[in-house]
Parts: sequence; C-alpha cells; structure tokens
Amino acid sequence: MQIRSLDPADVGRSYDMRTRAFGPMPDGARPDWESGVHKAIDEHRIVAAYDDDLLVGRAMIWSFRQCWGGRDLAMAGVAGVIVAPEYRGRGVGSALMDGIIARGRELGFAVSALYPATVPVYRGKGWEIAGVQARYSIVTRLLRELRGGAVGVRAATPEDAPTIRDLTAAAYAAGRANGPLLDSVSDLAEELEDAGVFAYLADDGFVRYGWEGKELVVDQLVAQSTETARALWAVVGSGSSVSPQVHAYLAPDDPLHQLLGECVVEQVKQTRWMLRLLDVHAAVSGRGFPRGLDVDVPVAVSDPQVPANCVEGRLRVTDGQGEFVAADGTTSSDAVRFTANGIAALYAGIPMASLVTSGAARGGSAEDHARLDAAFVGRSAYLLEYF
Ligand SMILES: CC(C)(COP(=O)(O)OP(=O)(O)OC[C@H]1O[C@@H](n2cnc3c(N)ncnc32)[C@H](O)[C@@H]1OP(=O)(O)O)[C@@H](O)C(=O)NCCC(=O)NCCS
Repeated sequence: MQIRSLDPADVGRSYDMRTRAFGPMPDGARPDWESGVHKAIDEHRIVAAYDDDLLVGRAMIWSFRQCWGGRDLAMAGVAGVIVAPEYRGRGVGSALMDGIIARGRELGFAVSALYPATVPVYRGKGWEIAGVQARYSIVTRLLRELRGGAVGVRAATPEDAPTIRDLTAAAYAAGRANGPLLDSVSDLAEELEDAGVFAYLADDGFVRYGWEGKELVVDQLVAQSTETARALWAVVGSGSSVSPQVHAYLAPDDPLHQLLGECVVEQVKQTRWMLRLLDVHAAVSGRGFPRGLDVDVPVAVSDPQVPANCVEGRLRVTDGQGEFVAADGTTSSDAVRFTANGIAALYAGIPMASLVTSGAARGGSAEDHARLDAAFVGRSAYLLEYF
C-alpha cells in the first residue's frame, strides 16, 4: 500500500469510487466535480492510497480559515474520504488519514475539521468530537415581530465582499467565536454573484439567505448591535406570508435566542464534527484566549501520529496569547495529560470534567483543571457550513 497524491489519470476511477460510496451525483454535476478535483490535485490537496498502480482510496482537503477564540487560522477541512468497497476494513482508511495529517502539516494547516460518517477511523487518528452544525427551525412570524426600526439596511452586491469580510472578522473577534469559517473576499464575492443568494447589509451586520424548496434558509447572520440584529432578522421575517417557517444555521448560543419573544425553536437538527490539532504549537499560538487571564499549567500531550506534537512542559496564557513551553528535561508528576483527541477537544472548549470522564485527559489538580477551563471553555464551537 502506497500513500501519495492522486494521479490525474485516476480522476475517472475516483468518480466511480465516489458513486459507490455516496450514491450518484445529480445529472450534469460531474464536470464541475472533475474540475474541482483537478484544482485540488494541482494544489496537492488530495491524498490517495494505491495497491501497486490501482487506486483504492482517496481523501481531500478543503482550504479554510476557521476562528478559534475569535482569531482565524488555517484549517484543513477533510472530505470525500473513500475506500473502494473491496478494500474496506483492511486499514486503508486509517492509512489515508495518516497521509492527510502529514499532507495537512506540509501545507501549513494548524488544525483540521471533518464531518464523520463513522467515528472510529478518525478518532483512532486523533480527531475528536468538538462542535456542531446546528440548524434551527423557527416560526417566521416571530422574526417579523422583531420589527426593523431605524437601522438602514440595503441589498448587498459582490462589491461589498471586502466590507462584509471585515465586519464578519470584527464580529467574530469581538465575540471570541469558536468554529465558524471566515470566507475569503473572493469566495464571498462569488457567493454574492449568485442570483439565488439574498444578502442585506447594515453598518455593523449582514445576512445571507435563500430558498430551499418552498422555505427560507438563513446561511449566516452577523450583527454587532441589538438594533441591527432585529433589523436583519426582520428582513428575513418579512417573508412570513409565504414561508411560515424559516430554517437558520446558528451558533447554539446565538443572541437570537435572547431576542425572540417566545421559545420559538420548533426543531433543531444537529450534525457533529470532529477536530484535530495538526500542529499543536501553531494551533495554540494562533488561537485567541480571554484577555486579562494568566494561566500557567504543567501539561503533557501524547500524539503517536505526530512526534512534533508531543509536549512535556507547560501551557501558558498571558494577554490573550497562548504557548506551550518545553520543560527543562523533567516531567512534572502533576502534569495534566492529554491524548491527541483530548487536546483537540479541550481546544474546542470541551470542559475538563468531560475530558477526564471520557478518558481523553487525566492527572493534574482540580485547580489546574479550572485554569484550563478558564482558558479554553467559552463560546460553543459551531460551523455554519457543511463540507
Ligand atoms: C469509512 C471508510 C473510509 C473507512 O475505511 P476503511 O479502510 O474501511 O477503514 P479501516 O480499515 O482503516 O478502519 C479503521 C477503523 O474504523 C472502523 N470502521 C471502518 N469503517 C467503519 C464503519 N462503517 N462503521 C464503524 N466503524 C468502522 C474499523 O473497524 C477500524 O476500527 P478498529 O481500528 O477499532 O478496528 C470506508 O469504509 C468507506 O469508504 N466507506 C464509505 C464512504 C464513507 O462513509 N466515507 C466516510 C465519509 S466521512
């Protein structure tokens, strides 16, 4: 078994394997899929497994920026993990994930996230359940009743992409957001070109939504003031006569829950995703931490897949900035010990009590557990997009 980049000559076989794994694509979708695969090959984002010259598995990386503690860092979104049916259950999927870890590190990604169709293959390689994509179904009338008020709202155009990116980055930084992707200006502009995307802009917020069948779906709403949140939600709510129910992708702790006049959520669909730290040092130094907090805790991280991620030392957080500091040759017997899965889950804000109970962390004093919680546990980790 060899793990290497996907050979462009194997794009056709890769398509066939994809159909066998996930079912047929909609008619006419193949050309776009193939051009996306060729682009990914050019950018070294597809890792493949070969038995001699036969393609038997493949996995792809999407290049994203993801916010942690309000700061965005390079995230490898893993998708399209496929093993040919006759090769499953023989370690090919696990070998592919080793390849993804190595390739993701080479490409400079600090962290990696994925939506697991099955958990063991990813858990075994250091990804851990970290956050949710939550889709709330809301009675549209209640959004309308938020009443827009005096805030000026106008339709957004592709030329607004830089403004929208800046205000989203500012909102995520101020809110110390965990998990959401920060779109590039070019991706946003492309999105806004789409006639099926309705986007509206205020001075400190924006919303984008569209139709899904006969119902409205809100893909993203960012607002930095109460008035703007009310105004943008009311724009969506103005569709209540036609779409009595709206679906919205939201953070589990989105302020909409406090704004609405009633407990309106009829239904929540949650899809869990997993996180791995590809480079623990880059991940911790690139993440935002609460300002005004000083933490210094002895920690040990074991990561059998990535020796460079093994830490024996201290985790320090000062002035909103974190770092691992190597110990001077001695290992503290008081250290809080993490598996690769445990450090990923802590990073995503899962409290120490849960990590200890699940076996992802052990050791250390109750005081040090509380310090780690103070550093990492904040906003619930969420993604709006599925990939
Ligand atoms: C999921 C998939 C990629 C796994 O590849 P694989 O080569 O069979 O995986 P491995 O042989 O390396 O197995 C690794 C571990 O995952 C477990 N595993 C594999 N497939 C599993 C499944 N469908 N359900 C539960 N566990 C599974 C194995 O038992 C093994 O666990 P173990 O180490 O405790 O024995 C492959 O089955 C596949 O292509 N499935 C169809 C497409 C798909 O679901 N892709 C995943 C999208 S996120």
